[in-house]
This record gives sequence, structure tokens and C-alpha cells, in this order.
Amino acid sequence: MPETPWANKILGKHGIALHKTDGCCVGVEVNCRICLSARARYGCSMQYEDFFAAQVAALKREGRYRVFADLERQAGRFPLALYHCPSGRRDVTVWCSNDYLGMGQHPHVRAAMHEAIDRLGTGAGGTRNIAGTTHEHVLLEQSLAALHGKEAALVFTSGYVANETSLATLGKMMPNCVIFSDALNHNSMIAGIRNSGAEKHVFRHNDPADLEAKLRQVDPKRPKLIAFESVYSMDGDIAPIAAFCDLAERYGAFTYLDEVHAVGMYGPRGGGVAQERGIEHRLHVIQGTLGKAFGMVGGYIAGSAAMVDFVRSNAPGFIFTTALPPVIAAGARASINHLMQSNRERHGQRDRVALVKQRLTAVGLPLLDSESHIVPVMIGDASLAKQVTDLLLDRHDIYVQPINYPTVPRGTERIRITPGPLHTDAMIDHLITALLDVWQVLALKKEAA
Ligand SMILES: Cc1ncc(COP(=O)(O)O)c(C=O)c1O
Repeated sequence: MPETPWANKILGKHGIALHKTDGCCVGVEVNCRICLSARARYGCSMQYEDFFAAQVAALKREGRYRVFADLERQAGRFPLALYHCPSGRRDVTVWCSNDYLGMGQHPHVRAAMHEAIDRLGTGAGGTRNIAGTTHEHVLLEQSLAALHGKEAALVFTSGYVANETSLATLGKMMPNCVIFSDALNHNSMIAGIRNSGAEKHVFRHNDPADLEAKLRQVDPKRPKLIAFESVYSMDGDIAPIAAFCDLAERYGAFTYLDEVHAVGMYGPRGGGVAQERGIEHRLHVIQGTLGKAFGMVGGYIAGSAAMVDFVRSNAPGFIFTTALPPVIAAGARASINHLMQSNRERHGQRDRVALVKQRLTAVGLPLLDSESHIVPVMIGDASLAKQVTDLLLDRHDIYVQPINYPTVPRGTERIRITPGPLHTDAMIDHLITALLDVWQVLALKKEAA
């Protein structure tokens, strides 16, 4: 049998006598004497499978191993879902969804998607440059620009990709750019900033004084970009956006605001916190997701026509990937257009959030005070956080995920509750009773009620 070309190449490259076999051996055949001696001389001794298993075992020991609940969302019943578990299937109440307003099951959104899939079929058929731009993408980008009062918008396959590739492109291509990044920015922003290769200064979380001190250290002539979020998703706190804009104007910096946990929910049209505070026009880039309050998937940036055209023309995460299916664009547009006109969902969410916070405080559960819709209940230990969520699920049919390192610092492990307009009074009663039961079973600390 002749050697495979690959075997020839690999073994030949290292100058090892070519191994004539049936073609399956490329230098790593477990019981092959020639391969073993070649590996001992030239190869890496890592046992790959053992390495993976040991890493996962370490996560398990630390209590940080993530178990995915096998849930089946049911349109029309959210926040109830069917939980597929070893003993069968049962209803659970979801208390940690980022489908914050229940738009994932909204009749207008579903109708728009049914109509679009029958009219347009499934995939986009390519990247946006090559046959993947459909009229639905164009309309969606127009809606997003209108949502934020900006000249233009650009859609990406996720909020993560939008951040990573936009920041990487802006930071890399603006000559000599310096990026100022909030210490608690999301991983997608950190990755984009790192990939830009630009000089980076991390300022203390939500701290304009520290940002200013860092701005002052940099040559005033250099282009500067300030990257931050509005609502921080783990603590639920909100950035001093106006103060950051003041500094940006004073120091001639470009502003990049991630409104992923705010779009749809804040502002009279759901444009986010900057819109609620009447300062949208002061931000150069507003970045958002279609995957949370809009109940879909995808991400975007909105800003000036020139900036959007620049990112469209240069960002690898936009250029080199297949466009979102047009049916997703149609559903997202229906969701955005609905939330631009309807306050019902936003008001409903606010009411439910206020009630959950008030009830948690009244019974002395350790709620982290937040000004947003995110309700963190602190536990402070990874293994205990997992036990809390297991008990909530097993004893009370309540689904929340434990939040552990690296998402939050060690010692601040928590559950993160996201009340929405579809959580009823009875569900809230049940949540409080269940939490009290679990706190008692595990002898967890409470606050003075
Ligand atoms: C602040 C922030 N930005 C960006 C993203 C990424 O958005 P997406 O889930 O649409 O990829 C997330 C995701 O949770 C996020 O929390």
C-alpha cells in the first residue's frame, strides 16, 4: 500500500524513515513501534484526552462545572418551560431568561417569522458581500438606525461578534488609537480590544474620575476610544453615561456604548439607557443585541453613516461569515417595531422587578441592590450556589442558573433573577417561598429583615 500524502509529508518533514503501512498511520499510531519512537524523539508527550478529562474534573471539584438544563420553551406558556430530566418531563418556571420581555413568543414576532419563512425560505445564502444581503437585512438595519436616532446600523450574527469585530477594527485601523475600557466590560469587548492590538487603559468600573486620570496621561493628540456598557448584567448597576460623554467631549474621544442589557427595555422607544436619559446623540456607537429583550438572535452597531460604512468595509467578523437568515431579520424587525410603540412590556417588567425586590428585601434574602431589572441574590461560594439552584429545581420546579467565576469574581457567586412582565403574582409568591426553604435547608445567611 502506498503511504497517504499526509503521512509522507509529516514524516518526511521530520526526516524519519517513511513508514509503509496501510495508510492509517501518520506518526501517532498507538501501538506502532516506528510511530512511538518518532513521537518520543519529535513529538509532544501530552495525552490529549487525559488533559481534557482532568480539566473538567477540576471544574467539578471546584463546583464550577456547568450543567445545562434540558429545557423546552413552549410558545404561549413562557416563563414556563418543559424540563427534560432523568425521571421524565415536568413544568418549571424560568427565572433567569434574557428573553427579558417574553418577545420570543410574541404573536406579532411569530407571525412575521412564519410569513417570512414561507416567502423567503431558510438561510441567507452567503456572506453579506456575496448574495447574503437580503431586503430583510436592509429593512432591519433601517429599523435599528431609527430605534437609536442614528444615521445607519449594521447587523452581525451575534452581539458578541458585533463587539469583538467592531472594536478590533476601530482600534486597529484608527492610527495610534488608545482604548479606555471599563474594568467590568463584557468578554466580547475585552476580546475585541485585545485583538485590535491598540494600547489599552482599564479604568475603575463606572468611575469618571479614574477615567479622567487615565485620559490625562495620554498624548492629547492621539485618537481615543472609550468603551463601556450601560447596564452591567451581573450586578445590574448602570454607567454614568453623561459623565463619560462629558469627558469624551473634553478629551476628544470616540464613545462606544454596549446597550445589550438595555435595548428594548429602557427609553420611551426601547433604545436603551442613553435614550432614557436623552443623550443618545452624544454617543458615537451604540451596540446592542437582538438576542435578549428582542427575543431573537444577532447583534448590531448603530452610529454615523461613515462609521458604519467603515466597519462594514473592514470588519472580518462581518465580512467573512454567513449573514443571519432573513427570517431572523424579519422576526427581529417585528419585535423592534413592536417595542418602539408599546410600553406595556416595559411597564410590566418594571412592576414585576419592583415587586420581586421588595419581597426579597422583606424576607431578608441577600439581594444586591441594583437600579436595573437585574436582581442578583448573593451566595458567595460556587459549590453552595450550585446546591441552591439544584434544590430550587428539584424541590420547587424553579430554574435559575448559578453564576460563578469567571463570569463574576470568586467569592461573589450568586443567582441572577430576571423578573419579566409574564411572571405572575403566584409565581413570585412561589419563588420567595422556595428561596426561603432552600436558604433554611442549606443554613445560608440572611440579611436583617
Ligand atoms: C454586555 C454584553 N455584551 C455583549 C454580549 C453578547 O451578546 P450576544 O448574546 O447577542 O452574543 C453579552 C451577552 O450576554 C453581554 O452581556
